[in-house]
Amino acid sequence: MTLQAQQYWNAIGSKKDFEDPLFMDKLVPFLSKSPAIIEYGCGYGRIIQNLKDQGYENLVGYDFAEAMIERGHKLNSHLDLRLLDKPNTIPCANESKDAVIMSTVLCCMVEESLQQQIMSEIDRVLKPHGVLYLSDFLICDHDKYKEKYAQGQRKFGTHGVYTTTENLTVRHFTSQHILKLLSQFDVQWFEQIDFKTMNNNPALTFHAIARKIAT
Ligand SMILES: C[S@@+](CC[C@H](N)C(=O)[O-])C[C@H]1O[C@@H](n2cnc3c(N)ncnc32)[C@H](O)[C@@H]1O
Repeated sequence: MTLQAQQYWNAIGSKKDFEDPLFMDKLVPFLSKSPAIIEYGCGYGRIIQNLKDQGYENLVGYDFAEAMIERGHKLNSHLDLRLLDKPNTIPCANESKDAVIMSTVLCCMVEESLQQQIMSEIDRVLKPHGVLYLSDFLICDHDKYKEKYAQGQRKFGTHGVYTTTENLTVRHFTSQHILKLLSQFDVQWFEQIDFKTMNNNPALTFHAIARKIAT
């Protein structure tokens, strides 16, 4: 399904605006003085710009959609936004980053094997005690999702998976599933927040901060 998602984000998706918050007040206490920060699935660089506005300098965003990166370069030519050669991998050396941000990207990875792959990649590139800021969508009990989840369950066999009206298949998660994906990390903060999808539908989201466990 990576190809289907990549096609979506290169076409319809690259024209969307994203508004999901990044709670800077929660993240900043975990950052060292001049941290090397990357964002996986950076889109057009909204969060990287936000971090730059806070005074952070060592920032790189990666995304698998060329149209997103192009949009980012047009909007913010000073930002270091890079197209991934190989989706679901992070082209950074082992233990080279102080922080990784991944906001509303996991929902595009329907298969658990892909989710685990990207979590292992994040773990690999983080320095010992490095920080992951992860946010995404939780299964929402709003009526709007009942039929979508039921159809997704029938088609994909997983509760929380559904295909949007724009033909993008996405996944909403249980908090238990997210905590399982984070089991190789030391979770410092996890909060559920009512928000909305990029298509303005009601949504339940989570925000989490987790540290790499030093071995
Ligand atoms: C909802 S947007 C969020 C963009 C950005 N994180 C933000 O919050 O402004 C999701 C982004 O993740 C990217 N993406 C989705 N799946 C990906 C994958 N497997 N590898 C890399 N990027 C991915 C999409 O191209 C898109 O730019």
